[in-house]
Amino acid sequence: EKGGYDHFMLKEIAEQPRAVADTLLGRIGSDGLLTLDEMRLSDQELRDVSKIIVVACGTSYHAGLIAKYAIEHWARVPCEVELASEFRYRDPILNRDTLVIVISQSGETMDTLMAVRHAREQRSRVLAICNVNGSTIPRESDAVLYTHAGPEIAVASTKAFLTQLVACYLVALYIAQVRGVKFGDEITQILDRLAGMPAKVEEVLATMEPVRALARSLADERCVLFLGRHVGFPVALEGALKLKELAYMHAEGFAAGELKHGPIALIDRGLPVVVVVPSPSGQRVIHDKIVSNIQEIRARGARTIVIAEEGDTAVEPYADTLIRVPAVETLLQPLVAAVPLQVFACELATAKGHDVDQPRNLAKSVTVE
Ligand code: F6R
Repeated sequence: EKGGYDHFMLKEIAEQPRAVADTLLGRIGSDGLLTLDEMRLSDQELRDVSKIIVVACGTSYHAGLIAKYAIEHWARVPCEVELASEFRYRDPILNRDTLVIVISQSGETMDTLMAVRHAREQRSRVLAICNVNGSTIPRESDAVLYTHAGPEIAVASTKAFLTQLVACYLVALYIAQVRGVKFGDEITQILDRLAGMPAKVEEVLATMEPVRALARSLADERCVLFLGRHVGFPVALEGALKLKELAYMHAEGFAAGELKHGPIALIDRGLPVVVVVPSPSGQRVIHDKIVSNIQEIRARGARTIVIAEEGDTAVEPYADTLIRVPAVETLLQPLVAAVPLQVFACELATAKGHDVDQPRNLAKSVTVE
């Protein structure tokens, strides 16, 4: 049932191109426009939305953080993202015009379910992005967009994460479409690029041997830091979470711009630091700033592991290890940049002799608070 792979996690990482393709399937009409009518929210309801709050836990929360960039950039609706366990107890300001988007692979996470109930009691609309058909969270929500990752068995989320990103992009673009927002590129163009993402993920998967070798070489390290900016920041958080849960190593993700506000004090000789570099073809300033962040940490002795798109030569002088990902639209970069981090954590944990499918102390679905 592991399809020839040693672990479910490896199988699920390999299934990502198909999972992404399946999540897009049937949602882009022949006119190049999005059709998400199965989610049961009317266009009028979406036009009336004045604020979006994305609520989730763990990896799904990281997908939510990335959704915020897409929702605000494409749909131009103010968006907040919150951990489900914090949201419920904070007395959030919700009303009929608030759309609460909950993201849950299992559809059974208790904190997220409680957030759904709380939001609906306040008369907000709730849209669930979920992978398990008929699970509790979509049943209790007003609307649902299913990811089509297929069953995810390994405790650490991989393919569900990529498909959650796709679902978030679709929601953001759909809201932009019904609200008639213009943002430079046409929606059909972005949808075209999204449709090309399974092939890009496949390209990444084909080049992972050096990442595995790197992971094995770091098996005795005590700590790894992850830095990112823009959508690379949640990717850094996700890379750190994967390493914690699988390799039981201390790992932290930071916004690179925060370095000088504290974390740079952690930089020590030989400390491995993974940096997720945004595309130079997007906002040049964010790219250039992260390149100087890499210089700063390298000058302090860090061992820099840089994830950058093909053709980005500016990072070359400062990367002790360079991991290339295909050049894609800035907002879509997490779909390719997260993959080496999954492979890295999986291989490092395996090198340490850990069970990557069943990490200690963790359960696949957290049905207690
Ligand atoms: C990490 C992981 C967890 C889940 C979290 C939410 O690899 O799997 O952090 O993402 O427990 O679970 P769902 O998405 O089922 O609500």
